[in-house]
Formats: sequence, C-alpha cells, structure tokens
Amino acid sequence: MSTAEQTLTPTTSPGAGLKIRNLTVTYQTDRGRFAALKDVSLDIRPRAITGFIGESGSGKTTLAMAAMNAIRAPGLITAGRIESEGVGDILKLKGENLRRIHGQHFGFVFQASSNSLNPLKRIGAQLLDLARSHGAKNPTALLHEAKQLAERMGMDGDRVLTSYQHELSGGMRQRVGIIFALLLRAKIVILDEPTTALDMLSQQAVLEIIRDIHKERGLTTIIITHDMGVVAEMADRVVVLYAGRVVEEGATADVLQRPMHPYTRGLIHAIPRITGDLSDAQPLAGSPPDLATIPEKGCVFRERCPVRMSICDTAEPQYQTAHQDGLVACHGVNAND
Ligand SMILES: Nc1ncnc2c1ncn2[C@@H]1O[C@H](COP(=O)(O)OP(=O)(O)O)[C@@H](O)[C@H]1O
Ligand SMILES: [Mg+2]
Repeated sequence: MSTAEQTLTPTTSPGAGLKIRNLTVTYQTDRGRFAALKDVSLDIRPRAITGFIGESGSGKTTLAMAAMNAIRAPGLITAGRIESEGVGDILKLKGENLRRIHGQHFGFVFQASSNSLNPLKRIGAQLLDLARSHGAKNPTALLHEAKQLAERMGMDGDRVLTSYQHELSGGMRQRVGIIFALLLRAKIVILDEPTTALDMLSQQAVLEIIRDIHKERGLTTIIITHDMGVVAEMADRVVVLYAGRVVEEGATADVLQRPMHPYTRGLIHAIPRITGDLSDAQPLAGSPPDLATIPEKGCVFRERCPVRMSICDTAEPQYQTAHQDGLVACHGVNAND
C-alpha cells in the first residue's frame, strides 16, 4: 500500500485538494424531501487517493457529485462551501465557469457511465468532441494519449477508438469511462465504482493503472467503492459514510487496523480476511439506511449498533479527533477505547 507521505511528496505541481464545509444535499421524493448528506465537513488532501466507502444509499455518489457542484434535480445543495485551489468556492460557480471545471479541474466517471456515452458516435470522435469543447490546444495528441491509456488497460486502442459503445463489453465501457475522466488532465479525478463490471483479474489490472497514473500525474484521486478490499489496496485515506454522515475518516492503515466507529468495524468484518477464509466474514446486521426512516434525533446508526447507549437516542454524535489526523462521530468511542 502506498502511504500518504509518498503521495504528498511534492514533485511537479502542488496538486489540488477540497475543503468541504457544512454540506447538506436534499432530494425531493414522493415521500417528502430528505437529506442525503447532512452537514458534512471534510478535507480531501491534495495528491492522495481517498476512498469513499459505505453501503449502497449511504451518500457516496451524492458527495462526489456535490463536490463538483454537479447535483441535478430532484437533488439540491441547500448549504455548504467547497474550496479548491485556483477555483475558489465551487458551489458559487455557474454556467460556463462551472462547465469548464467539469473536465479541466475535475475528471470524473460516474456509476453506469456508459449511459452518458453517445450511442451514435464512435468513442474516438466523442473524445475529440470533449477535447475541443474544452479548447484543448492539441486534441489529436490527447486522442493519441487516450489510445495509449486504452492499451495500458489491456484493450486494442485502435479498436476502442473506432468502436461505438454497443460494440464494447461492459468491462470495456467501464475502462473507456476512466479514459474520459483522464483525458483533459484534470487535477482531481473522481472514479465512482470504476471496476464493478470487471472480473477480478481485469479489476486488479485497472486498479494498478489508476494507481500508476495517479502517481505519474500527481493527481488528487477519489475512488468510490463498497468494497473494503479496494480501499485497503488503493487508498491513502478513507472516508466512511453512513446515511449521509461522515462517521469516520482517517489514514487507511489507521482506520483498518483500529476502526473506531461500530459501522466501520462492521464493514471490515463483513469482508473475508485478506488471507481469505470465507467463514470469517460476518455480514452486517440490519438493512442499509433508508432516508425516509432515518431518525431525526440522535445517532443515525443506533438501530444497527452493537454498542448502543441511551445518549444515542437523543443526541447526534459530534466529530471528535481520531487516528491523530482523522475524525470519528460516535458517542461510544471513549467507552470503546
Ligand atoms: N435522484 C435521486 N432522487 C431521489 N433520491 C435520491 C436520488 N439520488 C440519490 N438519492 C438518495 O440519496 C441517498 C444517497 O444516494 P447515493 O448518493 O446514490 O448513495 P451511494 O452512492 O452511497 O449508493 C439514497 O438514499 C438515495 O436513495
Ligand atoms: Mg453510488
């Protein structure tokens, strides 16, 4: 595993981080308006790989979309501030300024991104469109890089560029999504479940390439996953989300060796040990959070918590410092020490 120290060593550019403050995002649904993120404050460190982890519905995609001010109706960012080097408060950007940073400051591939490919255009033509729409000085050179990336990811570069999306397998489309995310040499690259359609072998190969390019380009990388194994292998830092709250954050090695929040412990115990005894794994009790039934008061995790106390019913746990430079929000943390 690479360490935060390694990725923080300055090489060419200082990199770009994110300072997220008091971020709240709601979705209007037919059952009412619910907060999918509530008062999230978090620093994403420049030049680190940060993993967002949590069960489905915990708010990982919403946090990543909000970080680039890309939330669309029925979602709404109702509060917060997000600062990034050279960009200012991202939540204040609009129109052309916002469009420009989507691609140049942020490179991204979102879940089920094959849907955002144009079915009527070859991949190469779409890559050129993207390069031109951002005023790239040498779109052809970028296309050549894209071809090389495709080859590094185990595909036939010429074939990929001349294909339509329907001619590619799910795993190839996923890799093409990553190429789009890297095309404009953005400083911050967000990959939302980038390897879920891949078999184990291709997953390993693609993760390795993501790590290599992260280092080569001095990127700030956010990788969203529900797989603690991917976090263990890839991430310098990890952000654990539950029901729209960051419940724990810290250096990956610290969090994995000494998880403080009972939800983090549950996620870790739910995966077989790295050495691989399936019978070791204990599925997390209870079902993933449903925004409509999250209690308004107290701790959102208490119904599933093995160390619940009476204060958890009445008071929402506040962030406390943990792992030296991370945080945790749990009433039981001192009790568990
Ligand atoms: N377009 C939407 N409309 C209504 N609710 C949404 C929408 N997108 C996400 N949500 C809700 O927001 C919560 C967080 O979703 P999401 O960010 O997609 O979580 P994750 O990526 O961790 O699976 C979930 O409860 C989900 O149902
Ligand atoms: Mg998601």
